[in-house]
Amino acid sequence: MVEFSRVAHEDTVLEVGAGTGNFLSLFEGTARTLLAADLTPAMLSRARAAHPLVHAVAADGAQLPFRDGIVDVVASAQMFHHVPEPVPVLREMRRVMSSRGRMLIVDQVATDKFEEALAMNELETIRDPSHAASRPRSAFHVMLRAAGLRVIDERTPSREQRFSDWMWKEEFPPERIDAVLDFIERRGSETGMGFRRVGDDWIFTRRRIMLLAEHA
Ligand SMILES: C[S@@+](CC[C@H](N)C(=O)[O-])C[C@H]1O[C@@H](n2cnc3c(N)ncnc32)[C@H](O)[C@@H]1O
Repeated sequence: MVEFSRVAHEDTVLEVGAGTGNFLSLFEGTARTLLAADLTPAMLSRARAAHPLVHAVAADGAQLPFRDGIVDVVASAQMFHHVPEPVPVLREMRRVMSSRGRMLIVDQVATDKFEEALAMNELETIRDPSHAASRPRSAFHVMLRAAGLRVIDERTPSREQRFSDWMWKEEFPPERIDAVLDFIERRGSETGMGFRRVGDDWIFTRRRIMLLAEHA
């Protein structure tokens, strides 16, 4: 991530939707200043406790409490699938980005087949009701262009994941785990996520997109 973002030693990095700060902490020791913004104060308290070098502020990504152009790298990881209207957030992230700054977006991605994206989103919403949309790669490009940004680099890494590591028993209520398993059993093959049974578990492919953009 650090290499992909082209971050430099004097840089200020802001992560929007930073949660507990794990992603932002990848930039510790490389960037000079680390700023975290998130809607959820409880997540930020954990970020402050775990990462004392991070300056954390509670804020909506669509209304950031920063002056224009003060950030060298404005990042967001695993946030946009929680955001129903992404373009105003991208525009706001662009506003705080310096004239030579970069924007790093990391998120899960749906396939470019419309029906598969719909089924994946049905499944993700059962798993996590705060899910808004897993979008296909093409949608990310349209959104960034609409916000006045130009993509300069892109990766689409994927890896295999076990269902039991995606919905672990300590975190999710049993009835929700059962509802997701029922969906996978009936309609998992429609999601484009490549579900296959392994013993009494399932394995599927988690696809991500990493985009680096600059002012258009
Ligand atoms: C799945 S967590 C990702 C946390 C962190 N980026 C990571 O990768 O570990 C998504 C985070 O986005 C935050 N979030 C969702 N919508 C937001 C918004 N409009 N503005 C700011 N934060 C938001 C949530 O509060 C949550 O902490």
